[in-house]
Amino acid sequence: MRRFPAPEIAPHVAGLIPYQPGKPIAELERELGIRDIIKLASNENALGPSPAAVEAIRAHAGDVHLYPEGSCPALRSALAAKLRVDGSCLAFGNGSDEIIHFLGLAFLTPGDQVIQGSPTFSRYEAAARLAQAQCVRIPLRDWRYDLDAVGDAITAQTRLVFIANPNNPTGTYVTEAELERLLDRISPRCIVCMDEAYFEYVDAPDYPDTVALIREQTNIVILRTFSKLYGLAGLRVGYAVARPEIIAAIEQVREPFNVNHLAQVAALAALGDADHAQRSRAMVASGRAVLTDGLRALGMDVVPSQANFVWADTRRDAQAIFQALLRRGVIVRTGGAFGAPTCIRVTVGTAEQNERLLNTLAEVLAL
Ligand SMILES: Cc1ncc(COP(=O)(O)O)c(C=O)c1O
Repeated sequence: MRRFPAPEIAPHVAGLIPYQPGKPIAELERELGIRDIIKLASNENALGPSPAAVEAIRAHAGDVHLYPEGSCPALRSALAAKLRVDGSCLAFGNGSDEIIHFLGLAFLTPGDQVIQGSPTFSRYEAAARLAQAQCVRIPLRDWRYDLDAVGDAITAQTRLVFIANPNNPTGTYVTEAELERLLDRISPRCIVCMDEAYFEYVDAPDYPDTVALIREQTNIVILRTFSKLYGLAGLRVGYAVARPEIIAAIEQVREPFNVNHLAQVAALAALGDADHAQRSRAMVASGRAVLTDGLRALGMDVVPSQANFVWADTRRDAQAIFQALLRRGVIVRTGGAFGAPTCIRVTVGTAEQNERLLNTLAEVLAL
């Protein structure tokens, strides 16, 4: 057999680490010989999808031989009406992950600079590196985005600033006043991406109303998703809200059928299911308080969260805690990948799941 040399990977891609998914629950159950594993590791909605979305998927399953409508017209008009923006202010992605990637493709050229907090969501850096841009990481302060330090780091080369609000993995948020102070310092050439994947869970009164801001400000992109509150992570639907000029640039790099038909009909149905949204929000509000108090009672430093997860410093080796929890059928996320090896991130589950997590953790810590 002829041997071929390994293909040469583009140098700016070679260093990227592919996303490491956790093992499927079914495989873990077989391996560990246990049942009833609970996963509180990916910030999914423990209530599951809206029943209306499931119904819509069933009703449209017979249409999947057709290409989807690339511009998501029905979802676009429903969302535009809900947000009170024009339809031209919306772009849809195969998850908001894809829109982060689009922003890199549409706005970055080699040598540009991207600014983000650290630790934060990993896809911003990937988008920067794929575009051969330099990613500048500004350390969080007390686990919060430090927007004054972000402002200080901006140079003439800065094209994109990513602000996860609330931030993943810490659940902290930036206030309207902090954001306005940053925006006052930024040239309109620099785009500020407000990633609001968890905004529906926020109850802080000083959280910024960014949709109102885009009416005056040309350089803001808001990202939101159907993966969290709406429970549709497996279908992959996210969206951007921005001025039409920014949306037009995203449209230039979007592939034609990026959001599939079942995802579109399910998202539309979920958007109309106020009851599921309300129950999901209520579950997170009460569960977040239970987890915060419970983890504190176990001696951890817990960061006040505005999202559907909590970030806690165990002050021990979090990897060992993770393994011990895993053997007892509870999966959480460790802080190692975020450069915080003593921390864990726990997704708010159902009342029963939260209780099991706290009881199992108490057992593990007592070992
Ligand atoms: C801050 C943040 N942004 C974006 C995403 C991606 O969400 P989606 O499922 O819409 O791609 C996540 C997912 O966990 C996230 O935590």
